[in-house]
Order: sequence, then C-alpha cells, then structure tokens
Amino acid sequence: MRSAKAFAPATVANVSCGFDILGFAIDAMGDVVEIKEKHTPGLLVKSIEGDEGRLPYEVEKNTCAVAIQAMMEELGENVGMEIYLKKGLPLGSGMGSSAASAVAALMAANQMLGEPFEKKDLLPFAIAAEKVACGAGHADNVAPSLLGGFVLIRDYHPLDVIKLPVPKDLHCTLLHPHFELRTADSRSVLRDHVSLKHATIQSGNVAGLIAGLFQEDYELIGRSLRDVIAEPYRATLIPGFYEVKEAVKSAGALGMGISGSGPTLFALSKGPESGKVISQAAQEVYESIGLGVDTYYSAINTRGAYVL
Ligand code: HSE
Repeated sequence: MRSAKAFAPATVANVSCGFDILGFAIDAMGDVVEIKEKHTPGLLVKSIEGDEGRLPYEVEKNTCAVAIQAMMEELGENVGMEIYLKKGLPLGSGMGSSAASAVAALMAANQMLGEPFEKKDLLPFAIAAEKVACGAGHADNVAPSLLGGFVLIRDYHPLDVIKLPVPKDLHCTLLHPHFELRTADSRSVLRDHVSLKHATIQSGNVAGLIAGLFQEDYELIGRSLRDVIAEPYRATLIPGFYEVKEAVKSAGALGMGISGSGPTLFALSKGPESGKVISQAAQEVYESIGLGVDTYYSAINTRGAYVL
C-alpha cells in the first residue's frame, strides 16, 4: 500500500495591516502528517499526537480530513486513507496551527496519489478546512504555510494569490504567552464597519509594507506594521500588549503586532542576532505581569510545505 509524509510550517497571518490578506511562514516549527492507503474507501483519522487529546477524530471536524475530503471530491475519487497527525504547534496560539495540519495532510495525500495537483492548486482545499476549524475561510495562514515566504491574497472570489519577496535579513520573533485564544472568539470582537479615515490609514500601511518588501527597506516595513482595524479590539484580549510592544521596539524591533488572531505576538527585526534581545525584553514584561511566555526566533521560511 502507498504512503507519504509531509511537513507544513507555522505562519503569521495579517502581519498587522493586512487583515485576512497577508501572511508569512516561519522556519521555527510546524506540523507533520503521514497518510497511509487503506483497503476500504473513506478517510480514517488514526492518530493525533501532541494535542493533549483535544483535536477531533471525526472526519467532518478534523482539519486534515476535511481538507483531503475536499480534494477527493474535486478528483471524483474515494481512495481509502489513514491519517496520522503530529502536532508541532500549540492550539489556539495564533501561529496557524489548524492551517499547518490541513496543508501537511494535503501535501502528503497529493504525493501519495502521484501528485494529481500542483502545489498551489491545493489551496482551495486548505481553505475549506479553515472554514471548519475557525468558522471563516481565510487564506492568510494556509497560503503561506503551503507556498512559503510572504503571500498576498489579493482576492478570494476568485482566489488570487501573489508571492512577495522576502528581504534576506528579515527575521521574526514570536512571543507565545501561556493562554489560548480561539480564532472564532478573536474574530467576534471585531467591528463590521470601518471608517473612511481608518480605511485610508490601513491601505497606506499595506501598500507601504509591500513596497518595503520589494525595496528591502526595513524602516519602511517597520513603519507599516500598523493596524487600526483589528489590533485595537484584539489588544484588549491580550494582557500586556502595549507594554510588550514598547519594550520590543526599544530593544530594536522594526515593529510588532498580533500573530493572526493571537495571543502570540510577532516582532520583525533585521539580522540574525536581533531576536535574542527582543525576546529578553518581552520576557521581562511578561514576568512583571505574571504571565509565562515561550519565545521563538526564526528566519522567514521561503520554502513552505514539503514532502518528507
Ligand atoms: N486573518 C485571520 C484572523 C487569521 O485574523 O482572524 C487567523 O489566524
């Protein structure tokens, strides 16, 4: 019987100003999924490790299974598959945990089937899984996890996904405080309407960030990490948010924002040494408010998901 295994990296969605339209992948960690063919048709989630028993095994709720099911429907086939998921990412962290599982599952299943789809064409199936996992079919985690680097989702209908350049000295520090925030809850605090003033500020920053990536202008990237649409509401759910922001900026970060829907925060900086100082500065703040934190420091992952 055939089998295949794949890895998909963690991601930072939104990147402050690009709510639901921008994301990038990081090197530090990710999920691994193995797919084994079975004699009988249909999907079976066989094992999940590293989730402390919390993720669903039901095919219609499990993100790996939902993604593969969507792929099978497109193929018009029903190959029997067993799914083995190894979580490397914490749940409800804002580091694209559900996205990494779905993407790794699709990469492995596609490989096992002899690659009927090109890598980029797996994206709609991963979005279908995000819809089930988070209640919203956003692509700003799944697209960078699949494709690597910085990714812009210019439009969803039809899907228009653009890979952006990654300045070579750009690094990311992730600060993961010890509590969970469900994406659905973090989305529920957002407003349905945006004022003209805020729409103007937000578009200026998205354009600035993209120009900064193209021009390798680190200062411009930093100035553009400003979000007036989601951050002001979500920051209220994240203890110490503004204190951490001030501390990491004083420690040399170009800018800081909420990673996806939080509670993990991300800081961008220049050069491989900057992360240590930034992590230390953030740790001191978290210590002062009595909140544990894990810090990760990573280059931007430009490869995306891959078969092992
Ligand atoms: N763009 C999504 C959100 C990402 O901010 O809700 C969720 O990780």
